[in-house]
Amino acid sequence: MNKNEILAVLNDWNIWKTEQATGIVREKYLDRLEAFFSSNQVITITGPRRAGKSYIMRQMAKRLIEKGIKKENLLFVNFEDPRFTSLDTKLMEEIFEVYREFLFPTDTPYIFLDEVQEVEGWEKWVRMMHELKKAKIVVSGSNAKLLSRELGTLLTGRHLDLTVFPLSFTEFLAFNKTEYKSLLDIAGKEAEIRGLLRRYMEFGSFPEVTLSEQKREIILKYFDDLLTKDLFRRFRIRKPQVMKSLIKYYLSNAGNLTTFSSIEKFLHASADTIEKFAGYFEDVYLIFFLKRFSFKVKEQEKSPRKVYSIDTGLSNAVGFRFSENIGRLAENIVFLELKRRQMQNPAIELFYWKDVHHREVDFLIKENTKVTELIQVCWDVSDERTKQRELRSLFKGMDELNKKEALVITDEFDETEEHKDKTIRFIPLWKWLLNMS
Ligand SMILES: Nc1ncnc2c1ncn2[C@@H]1O[C@H](COP(=O)(O)OP(=O)(O)O)[C@@H](O)[C@H]1O
Ligand SMILES: [Mg+2]
Repeated sequence: MNKNEILAVLNDWNIWKTEQATGIVREKYLDRLEAFFSSNQVITITGPRRAGKSYIMRQMAKRLIEKGIKKENLLFVNFEDPRFTSLDTKLMEEIFEVYREFLFPTDTPYIFLDEVQEVEGWEKWVRMMHELKKAKIVVSGSNAKLLSRELGTLLTGRHLDLTVFPLSFTEFLAFNKTEYKSLLDIAGKEAEIRGLLRRYMEFGSFPEVTLSEQKREIILKYFDDLLTKDLFRRFRIRKPQVMKSLIKYYLSNAGNLTTFSSIEKFLHASADTIEKFAGYFEDVYLIFFLKRFSFKVKEQEKSPRKVYSIDTGLSNAVGFRFSENIGRLAENIVFLELKRRQMQNPAIELFYWKDVHHREVDFLIKENTKVTELIQVCWDVSDERTKQRELRSLFKGMDELNKKEALVITDEFDETEEHKDKTIRFIPLWKWLLNMS
């Protein structure tokens, strides 16, 4: 590629001459990024495809400009642009040269490298730039392992990670032009919020899906892209059908226990293959596995894991039966929110709890060495038998873990109950998601 061709591509993605869409601001992420910048480390932004990483990078660039950084000190490169031909460090060097020659940055530039994993050997160039203090660098990509493994070996302890998820319920409300800052704002609006929660559960919360009318079509397109670009192509999969069936299985079994060996038969694939594929799915943020809590590491490792989906809309689109399984969808929503909280506080670890009599507590939260919270998701507590069953399991877990308080997340039920020496707080999902108890 010659200099003019490179410049033409750069011009299309930068704010030097053209406006770039930045959409609805996602404050929380920007605040964290800003804090990261002051540390002078390389920043990596990861998260599922289409979660909004590129938009957040552009919002950050805009914020920097508002803070007085000059436009010419910002460089944005999108390596998924098909006009880039040979994706290697030579191209990165050429891009940087073109940028310096035509833009004359006057200060240490901020360089945003979007979908950087497309470039062979990118981490060496990034490290060189970082060590020579030639730029402040942010890289993004849709594969956690690829980014952190390659950076990890070269930049051990010198990079900070930001994980971008589909919208939280608070963000989802803002995208729907509704915002509630306190319980006072909410008074009389419960029905509206519950209606939005329904949609949040049914269609999930990818930003574009949230803003569009063609929700299902877009989700299915994402699913296809993810499979072909992030999985089949990248990992050179020879049995795409097996992989596709497996991911559909996982996505539509959100909240269920699973083992690699239990899937073997119905998929006609070996447990090894299944485990390998499952690892890929985790790398691209399609699914998560939740381990069982135990004081014994060995038991923790060999117990079945629960699987959760990155997006309930995606699960519904590929085969989850929404109306029959609303409780498990709610559980998936709770899981995703806990993951978001974990990003804010990396000292948190998540587990489920289960005893030998198959009594289960959906979520156990551990901080450092202490169990801090037990959460049961029980959608419909109006059926007294269901309620008692869920509570029995919860009490058992509380006894074993020495907890006097626990949370039960419900559809509507909103009460605090005392059971002997135990206090159970029942809270509707929407209230819990908005962090207003
Ligand atoms: N903050 C936002 N405001 C409005 N729309 C958004 C926002 N973030 C993402 N989108 C929509 O979602 C699409 C995917 O976002 P993008 O940032 O490209 O995701 P990623 O880089 O994670 O793959 C965008 O093309 C846009 O339509
Ligand atoms: Mg992107």
